[in-house]
Amino acid sequence: MICKKLFFSCAAVLVFSAYSLIVSAAKDPIVIAHRGASGYLPEHTLESKAMAYAMGADYLEQDVVLTKDDHAIVFHDLYLDAVTDVATRFPGRARSDGKHYVIDFLLTEILSLYVHERLDLKNNQSKFPQRFPHGKGLFRVHTLADEIEMIQGLNQSTNQSVGIFVELKDPEWHKQHNKDIVAVVLKLLKEYGYTSPSTPVYIQSFDSNALKRIKHEYNSSLPLIQLIGENNWWPESAMDYTFMQTKEGLREISTYAAGIGPWFKQIYTGKNSKGHPQFTELAKHAREKGLAVFPYTLRADGLPKDISDLNELLHLLLDSQKVDGVFTDFPDAVRQFLSTR
Ligand code: G3P
Ligand code: CA
Repeated sequence: MICKKLFFSCAAVLVFSAYSLIVSAAKDPIVIAHRGASGYLPEHTLESKAMAYAMGADYLEQDVVLTKDDHAIVFHDLYLDAVTDVATRFPGRARSDGKHYVIDFLLTEILSLYVHERLDLKNNQSKFPQRFPHGKGLFRVHTLADEIEMIQGLNQSTNQSVGIFVELKDPEWHKQHNKDIVAVVLKLLKEYGYTSPSTPVYIQSFDSNALKRIKHEYNSSLPLIQLIGENNWWPESAMDYTFMQTKEGLREISTYAAGIGPWFKQIYTGKNSKGHPQFTELAKHAREKGLAVFPYTLRADGLPKDISDLNELLHLLLDSQKVDGVFTDFPDAVRQFLSTR
C-alpha cells in the first residue's frame, strides 16, 4: 500500500515537473509597439518610441523609407503629407498626384519638417480625433540610426534588451527609383551589431521577394516576418496574400521566414448569430509550419464593432488563438493585460 502511494506521488511529481518545464519553455507573447506608443503621441517620433519603451514594450517598430540621398528614415508612408507640414514648407515640390514623396527630398530637408498627428488626406481631419491634438508640440522625423542609438542607449542605461522590429516599406517602389532598401537597411543593422538571431531584431515586409533576398542572397540568419495584407489593398502588387494564407502558402513562407504578420481580421472574423467568436485556421496552420504569428494592429480606439474593449480582443488572439505577440498602438494596455493572465 505504502509502495503504491509512493509510486503515485513520484509519478505526480514527475508529471508536474515535466509540465512546469513545458510551461516555462513556452515563451511569453511579445508586445510590439506599433510606430511607438502611437496611441498617445504622433507616430514614429522619438518621443513616441521613448514612451513605448517606458511602457514595457518588448520591441519597438520601425517602418523604413529611403530619402533622395539614400538615408533610411523611420516613416510609414512613401509620401510626407499625412504627418508633416511639407506642403507649406516646400511648395511646388509635389508630384502630379499632389503628394510630396520622401524619395524626392534630401535628408536635411526632411529633418527640417514638423511632424503632427496623422491626418486623413481625404478630408484633412485627424485620423484619430481623440489622440494627440493636431499641430501641437514640436516633433521631428528621425533616421533609423538615430532610433537604434536611442534604443541601444536606453538598453544600456536601464539594463534591458528591448528589440527593433524593422519593416522595409515597398522595396519594389525603391527599386523603380534605383534604390536598394534591403542593402541599405542590412548594412545599417550590421553596423549596429544586429548580425545574429541572438540580437533582438526582426525584419518584416509585405514583399516576399525582399525577404527571400535577405535569406538567400545575403545568407542572413536574422528572423524574417512575412506581413500579409489583402490583395485588394494594393491591386497593382505582384504579391498574392490570399495564397499566403493557405497551407501551401504558409509552407512556402516557412522556407524563408520565421513568422507571419497577418491583419488580425485574417484570424478573428467576427461573431456568429449566437455571439460566439469565429476564427480562421490561419494561426493554427502557421504554427503547424513552425511559424510565429504576430497580428497587426490592435488599437483601443479602432476595435471591430462586435468587440467590447481591447482586453476582449487580446483574449481572443492571445488566449484562444495563442498568437506569439501583437502589434499595438497601446503597448501599456497590452502589457497590463499580460500581467494579469
Ligand atoms: O508592420 C505591421 C503593421 O505595421 C503593418 O501595417 O501599414 O502599419 O505598416 P502598417
Ligand atoms: Ca509597419
